[in-house]
Amino acid sequence: MNVIASGKKPAACAYRLIDSTEYSVLEDFLYGAIFIPEGVEPPPRDVIYSPTLRHYIKGFGKQGDICYVCVDDSKIVGAAWSRILDEPDNKGYGNVGAGVPELAMSVLPESRGRGLGTELLKRLHTALGELGYKRISLSVQKANAALRLYERCGYKVVKEQETDYIMVKRLWESEDVL
Ligand SMILES: CC(C)(COP(=O)(O)OP(=O)(O)OC[C@H]1O[C@@H](n2cnc3c(N)ncnc32)[C@H](O)[C@@H]1OP(=O)(O)O)[C@@H](O)C(=O)NCCC(=O)NCCS
Repeated sequence: MNVIASGKKPAACAYRLIDSTEYSVLEDFLYGAIFIPEGVEPPPRDVIYSPTLRHYIKGFGKQGDICYVCVDDSKIVGAAWSRILDEPDNKGYGNVGAGVPELAMSVLPESRGRGLGTELLKRLHTALGELGYKRISLSVQKANAALRLYERCGYKVVKEQETDYIMVKRLWESEDVL
């Protein structure tokens, strides 16, 4: 969707790295990142504390953790973060190998579709590339509209599973790293 064609003005948000005093908001954005198909009852909020989800945010701020937020009128309305989730017995849904950061993101419902997610991703990709990471991965449900955003931002499907795709974006275009 083109934001101009849609009649919505791109939001004038400020983008910056999350501050360590703000890490608790990641709970909200992790819950917001859960794909809920139309007509399906949302899971209880405490699902974010389950072993397969909590490691996306638990103890955030370790080496290698990066999170950009967008702030609109002093309120954080979106977050995109990456973290390495390659523990053998508890890998992230989108894990593609040791040392490859995995993406999680969401934007508050009322702020979606206005370009914020795209801007957050651009900043996160640039920061990861500057830190020397060659790839970033993610898992996205096949039915999630976010798939289009990821394709537009350069992610490619590397594995198709029953209900989701694992996608990878190369952060250094000159490297053959897919
Ligand atoms: C996916 C998401 C982070 C994108 O942020 P955004 O600010 O809406 O993104 P942008 O405005 O930059 O780009 C719009 C694209 O986002 C996706 N998008 C838009 N509204 C969406 C929604 N309600 N749900 C999921 N994706 C959406 C589409 O790919 C859209 O592309 P299109 O314009 O070609 O249809 C945001 O929509 C969101 O939080 N969705 C729900 C949570 C989610 O699905 N997170 C990703 C888990 S893998």
